[in-house]
Amino acid sequence: CGIIGIVGTTTVTERLIDGLKRLEYRGYDSSGIAVLDGGTLKRERAEGKIKALETKLGGAALDGTIGIAHTRWATHGVPNENNAHPHFAGRVGVVHNGIIENFLDLRKDMSHRKFTTETDTEVVAHLVDDALSSGQAPIDAFRTSLKKLKGAYAFGLIIDGFDDHIFAARAGSPLALGIGDDEIYLGSDAMALAMLSQKLVYLEEGDWAVLSPTGYKIFDRDDNPVERDITLIQGGPAMAEKGNYRHFMLKEIYEQPETVGRTMTNYVDEFRLSADAPEGLGFAKIDRIIIIACGTAYYAAMVAKYWFEQIADIAVDIDVASEFRYRSPVVSQDSLFIAVSQSGETADTLAALRYCKDKGLRTAALVNVMTSTMAREADIALPINAGPEIGVASTKAFTSQLTALASLTLAAGRARKTISRDAEIRLTRALTQTPRLIKEALLLDESIEAIASDLSGKSSAFYLGRGAQTPIALEGALKLKEISYIHAEGYAAGELKHGPIALIEDGTPVIVIAPYDTLFEKTVSNLQEVASRGAFIILVTDETGAASAKDMADEIIVLPNSDSFVAPIVMSIAIQLLAYHTAVARGTDVDQPRNLAKSVTVE
Ligand code: G6P
Repeated sequence: CGIIGIVGTTTVTERLIDGLKRLEYRGYDSSGIAVLDGGTLKRERAEGKIKALETKLGGAALDGTIGIAHTRWATHGVPNENNAHPHFAGRVGVVHNGIIENFLDLRKDMSHRKFTTETDTEVVAHLVDDALSSGQAPIDAFRTSLKKLKGAYAFGLIIDGFDDHIFAARAGSPLALGIGDDEIYLGSDAMALAMLSQKLVYLEEGDWAVLSPTGYKIFDRDDNPVERDITLIQGGPAMAEKGNYRHFMLKEIYEQPETVGRTMTNYVDEFRLSADAPEGLGFAKIDRIIIIACGTAYYAAMVAKYWFEQIADIAVDIDVASEFRYRSPVVSQDSLFIAVSQSGETADTLAALRYCKDKGLRTAALVNVMTSTMAREADIALPINAGPEIGVASTKAFTSQLTALASLTLAAGRARKTISRDAEIRLTRALTQTPRLIKEALLLDESIEAIASDLSGKSSAFYLGRGAQTPIALEGALKLKEISYIHAEGYAAGELKHGPIALIEDGTPVIVIAPYDTLFEKTVSNLQEVASRGAFIILVTDETGAASAKDMADEIIVLPNSDSFVAPIVMSIAIQLLAYHTAVARGTDVDQPRNLAKSVTVE
């Protein structure tokens, strides 16, 4: 979910809507806005995209110089208008990100109150309104209510009759203030605030704040007044534009020759043909790397496991963040923790980072958004510099994560003396070739579109790969599920025969990712096992692989030959285009697929 708030001197509605549009990637199942219009609380809400809210507002303009707004990714309560934020109770209006875990208990304690939604958030408005009714001043009503909450939250709250104050609080969900000339802003990330101010103040865990047009006060979790640093964010607030592309996702796929190149400039010296990593990672001394991530970023971590183990001879544990945190993982102080996250805000990954930081591990965050919570909290922030990724299905961030992790692997190999200088030169050169190889891969767009038109008629698909291509198979299946809504499973090619092969029928599409590497023959054997049971084979390979196996496939996608080290990056282009065109053929909402959000800040 996303939050934006303004307390100022001129009308806020339009600017709040603009801010919501920038936050739409955080959720888009419903949205709403509340202002104090002449001191009176008013709101408008709508189910669906922010466009729907804008249409509704067209008629009934809300006019005020203070307001809060929200775009929702539903947790408690279906995504309809009634469950959309802001939530009202008496004099109080509130927008909330996170989950109030004890909301049912709190509701029971307030049986004198009438609840009108299924959300966990409504209880907060009631708590504050109750406290106001008992005679507490607004600041005390807010402060004492916070103490009753369990769970994660970021709030913006306004009170009828107090049109120069927004109350805000942060625990577990990110929140920042923006400083204007005679206005103060509130936002769940820099993206929303960028168009309003370049001076940001990030609230820390447990902080709460009171904002007014002339300034703000921040208090820590024990209610002591505190100062927090002002961060100047760079660059203009320009919103990413689609240009001539039909979707952001397609634009982002096409950006990859540049974005991968840009990622590399952070790590690779193209003249010396070697990669560097920040000293603090301590590659020479660590006993293990723990890489934690969610979704697509997790598959980048999985590729990195193959790389680090093979090239730098270092043990790597990977896990999805939501599992890692609660299984009491055994970690050693000599391990390096790396969080991989496009947004740098994903709640589960952030919790894993904090867990390892508490255990005394050195921590790094490989992120696209360098102003994010993870970048600020980790000991070392590692950039990918892929630029804003708007499409919910990650593409360019994935190949940039891979590029950065490949570079780190080479740096680790050198630090640990596991690769010769010759090998280092060969592998670094291979990495520097990837922008060119991606450019060539993009030339396959039309032929992949034709294959996608066959795939779009199917209800289920399998993706197979071996070694470092296994994660690419998993990512291929994830991309297809996310945006085309076709049921898809990715498998290690050798594992299919242990169960899932029972699902292969005549015409079941199986996408086999098999560049010509040391595992090629093995993968082709698995291909034949499913082909002989009627599968419709789409082989994703390179030129050498195609020369040897073209007769075994119904369709073939032939990528340029590459060193097997970087082949996972090159193969990714094909699975992205295949998912994209399949989704377009099915007419889905490619950039904002149903039920998803780009950045998930709840556990
Ligand atoms: C969400 C998105 C996924 C993404 C995952 C991790 O679920 O829909 O596309 O891979 O979060 O996001 P992160 O920002 O941590 O990389």
